Amino acid sequence: MGGDKIYMGPLRGFTERPFRDAYAEFFSGVDVVLAPFIPLVTVDYINPSRLRDILPNNERIPLIPQVIGNSASQIIQMAEVLKSYAYEEINWNLGCPMPKITKKKRGSGLLLYPEEIHTLLSQVFENIDIRFSLKTRTGFQDTSLFSELADVFCQFPLASLTVHTRTGSQMYSGTADKEFLLPYLEKFSNTELIYNGDIFSVEDFETLKNLMPSISSWMIGRGLIRNPFLGEEIKTGEKKFNRNRFFSFHKMLNENVAKTSTSEKTHLNRMKGYWTQFRFLFNDRETIKNRILRAQSVKDFLVAAEEIIKNSGLQEH
Ligand SMILES: Cc1cc2nc3c(=O)[nH]c(=O)nc-3n(C[C@H](O)[C@H](O)[C@H](O)COP(=O)(O)O)c2cc1C
Repeated sequence: MGGDKIYMGPLRGFTERPFRDAYAEFFSGVDVVLAPFIPLVTVDYINPSRLRDILPNNERIPLIPQVIGNSASQIIQMAEVLKSYAYEEINWNLGCPMPKITKKKRGSGLLLYPEEIHTLLSQVFENIDIRFSLKTRTGFQDTSLFSELADVFCQFPLASLTVHTRTGSQMYSGTADKEFLLPYLEKFSNTELIYNGDIFSVEDFETLKNLMPSISSWMIGRGLIRNPFLGEEIKTGEKKFNRNRFFSFHKMLNENVAKTSTSEKTHLNRMKGYWTQFRFLFNDRETIKNRILRAQSVKDFLVAAEEIIKNSGLQEH
């Protein structure tokens, strides 16, 4: 466990700077953060306002920016801009399952076209001087093209390859296929292979580690929001929940969200979004549903949230 590297997975709408800053203040266990994607567009000049979430800000946990798109020239342009901000790596999103993305042949929608991916990677690797990694799923509709995709991926010196072991059409339903990567471990023995999908507890992590002892990089998305102590728990093998620490983290998260929201309604909705995940920590389902998720004002929300954090029983993990 000690030698394992934990990546915080990108969750657009959750793991932007307000969350990352509060997380880094109160928790440890995460070694690297992958930021939520920046959509690529054709422009002569990339306005820094588009990069607001990742403009360098003395990150306490190293941050890797991620982009989504299907144009080599746009990736190359963005890589140059990121390099000018002293980033050493750019990550390409080949996994997003949202129909409005996939129908434009972006994210997991591009997984149907291994040859196009090959062409794009060839152009990118010829033209960038920053590390390049990618995050993918096991396919779009099904997994039938994965071995072809793997043949493409392993022709390039990827800084890392993250595989979320669901197909795009699965979205987030069902379960991640914990055994999917077994036949590919040998093929990627010279690449940093990062397993991603459904790590919600130390037990989930241990099952995966026993299954694939050769993997030492793990990406956790929802699990770290549901239980921000999870990174520490995996690294130490001990339960780490601490009410005061969670209370202080929540307070800072709420302040950070307030500062970056244009209205009370946006602020409230963003905090409710976090509680769709935090609710997995606490037992008090009725209060969470009726008083937090239905709150009409930030004030009511905060009273209910702080009461739950102080008094509620914990769910078993
Ligand atoms: C709301 C939401 C937003 C997401 N945004 C991104 C994103 O911007 N980039 C990305 O590569 N994956 C994104 N993902 C996928 C996660 O990073 C991760 O691959 C997925 O949730 C499976 O991992 P988990 O079971 O640990 O959550 C998102 C997932 C969710 C639920």
